[in-house]
Amino acid sequence: MIKRIETILRSEEVGYELTVQGWVRTRRDTGTFSFLEINDGSSLANLQVIAEQTLPNYDGQVKKLTAGCAVKVVGRLEKSPAKGQTVELHASDVTIIGWADPEEYPLQKKRHSFEFLREISHLRPRTNALGAVARVRSRMSFGVHHFFQQRGFYQVHTPIITTSDCEGAGEMFTVTTIQQNEGASKEAAAKEFFGKSAGLTVSGQLQAEVYALSLGNVYTFGPTFRAENSHTSRHLSEFWMIEPEMAFCDLNQNMQIAEEMLKFLLSDVIAHCQEDMALFNKFIEKGLLAKLEGVLEKKFGHITYTEAIEELENSTKKFEFPVSWGIDLQAEHEKYLTEEVYKKPLIVTDYPLAIKPFYMRVNDDGKTVAAMDILVPGIGEIVGGSQREERYDVLQQRMMDAGIDVEEYAWYLDLRKYGSVPHAGFGLGFERLVQYVTGMANIREVIPFPRTPGFAPC
Ligand code: 4AD
Ligand code: MG
Repeated sequence: MIKRIETILRSEEVGYELTVQGWVRTRRDTGTFSFLEINDGSSLANLQVIAEQTLPNYDGQVKKLTAGCAVKVVGRLEKSPAKGQTVELHASDVTIIGWADPEEYPLQKKRHSFEFLREISHLRPRTNALGAVARVRSRMSFGVHHFFQQRGFYQVHTPIITTSDCEGAGEMFTVTTIQQNEGASKEAAAKEFFGKSAGLTVSGQLQAEVYALSLGNVYTFGPTFRAENSHTSRHLSEFWMIEPEMAFCDLNQNMQIAEEMLKFLLSDVIAHCQEDMALFNKFIEKGLLAKLEGVLEKKFGHITYTEAIEELENSTKKFEFPVSWGIDLQAEHEKYLTEEVYKKPLIVTDYPLAIKPFYMRVNDDGKTVAAMDILVPGIGEIVGGSQREERYDVLQQRMMDAGIDVEEYAWYLDLRKYGSVPHAGFGLGFERLVQYVTGMANIREVIPFPRTPGFAPC
């Protein structure tokens, strides 16, 4: 019976025969037997194997095992007399499935820097920290679906290749079959694969709106791409976004669901990834668990953009970017508000119309839009959302003001012509959330294969 180490360690049962398959972490020899620490990826903890010298391949193979070798071990599970583990596997057979040359294998027993591990993204999930991140990330992804499906939201698969630039920030990667030397001529444009220029999506929102206005409550959860030249610890060129979109919904209900979702995901991961979370709490961010539990207990802070600006203007702190009404909040401003003033997640609403995309609903003051961002200590913006402009004329004017070709977006305007309703939604950056939950300092550690400007190794 092949068993996963997580299952073995979770059960109290001993005294039966089983098989495990995994990778050797360490080997330690005594006079008459060797200890092998085996990890199969199912848990942070290794399984200790006792391989006696009486095994037929003991001298020829077992004693040559090193970190990274893949093995299959058959044996009997017994209570361990030693400290450090509750059970151990007494091997009756050790089969070597794959060798790993110790002269070349890059993962040695010492602790490696995350920068170094990034250069070997094909091996780094075998480390404790990156393995733990992968398990937590998987659980959180499951949690997202669990949260929405329980509440009657339908998942919509929005396109990855798109001809609409949702955010209008000119950060779209182009998708084309035209060679560079064919240039941007008229003839070349006529040969565009899709008949017009296309790119990788920066957000599935516009298409999610289509489905919300047919199905009610929907969400999309997929990869998004941004060709911004940002080299920060919280920007990726390819990241995953969770975007719910709700019909018959205003900004307040939108904020409520966002807060509920974040709290659900935090409590779910704390409950289901205890071992991995304990590792982060101990080695990555001291006090992480207390911080997250604190978030669950309190209501998020809530201020308007205008109040945020007042708060910043009245502060004695010197900011690099000067503060005045109308500016986009910079990372330093967000940090100050969440880390020094509120010390908890903070929702900021009603941003100036001029700094937000065309689809956000214009408030009665004519100067601000029904936007909401959620900022968290240590990271800054984690959620960006809004109530959408549902009034045909207002939206059309906003699009024209933004220099958008309204013909191209006729389908989007149609939604305001045929049974338009107030609706709202938001985008949660999945990696920023995983970063917040694991305490990892750099976003590149919470996605398996990070893509950033100048970096996309495999
Ligand atoms: O605020 P953003 O740009 O909002 C939208 O794209 C909306 N269309 C969402 C919606 O209303 N449906 O992005 C949403 C979130 C940000 O708050 C941030 O967490 C994350 O996506 N994000 C990034 N994460 C990693 N790397 C990047 N370059 C990111 N850009 C945005
Ligand atoms: Mg934003």
